[in-house]
Amino acid sequence: MNPIMNNVALPLSFFICLSFFSLLNAAPDITKICEKVRHKDLCISSFKESYLGRYVLDNAEPELLASVIIKITVNNASDVSRNLKTTVLEGPVPLTPEVRAKYGICDQEVVSAMKELDKVRTAMESRNQKKEDLNMKAAVTNIENCEQELKQVEGQLPDKKQFEEVIVLKELLGNVEDIVKMFG
Ligand SMILES: *[C@@H]1O[C@H](CO)[C@@H](O)[C@H](O)[C@H]1NC(C)=O
Repeated sequence: MNPIMNNVALPLSFFICLSFFSLLNAAPDITKICEKVRHKDLCISSFKESYLGRYVLDNAEPELLASVIIKITVNNASDVSRNLKTTVLEGPVPLTPEVRAKYGICDQEVVSAMKELDKVRTAMESRNQKKEDLNMKAAVTNIENCEQELKQVEGQLPDKKQFEEVIVLKELLGNVEDIVKMFG
């Protein structure tokens, strides 16, 4: 390469690099978004722990991030529901009818919350703010109902683990609420 070419090529590639990175930085990143939600550390860890969140680029569109956090929460709810069924309802420890009934209702509420969250995503895509708010509220109520059911028999629960999972799910949902409000 002749020296003149070299003189131009280096600053030019530097410039291209710079504009590329400023383009990346123009979009909000996950850390910045998570700083604005109520459960910050959980927000970051939920993105990092999930296979869905791990590959989301920092410069992803805000709507995509909102959609991903909803999917992460639906998957989490699905795991919570599975654990409620397999380790408690069909688990080795016999339950009193009262406790069994509460777990059963709690599980149904979690399953309903998953459906509501899917509807939030659809509403977001079609920019239906009203539906988005309605379904979001319904999902929150579902998880609150589940929590209330278990709280009533807290002393009789064979294991606190599933109850704690419900609480984490509720916190994830709180983050979803905040993020959807930001971008929805
Ligand atoms: C739900 O997500 C949180 C945050 O990533 C995680 O700590 C928790 O273990 C998940 N719950 C279940 C039941 O997988």
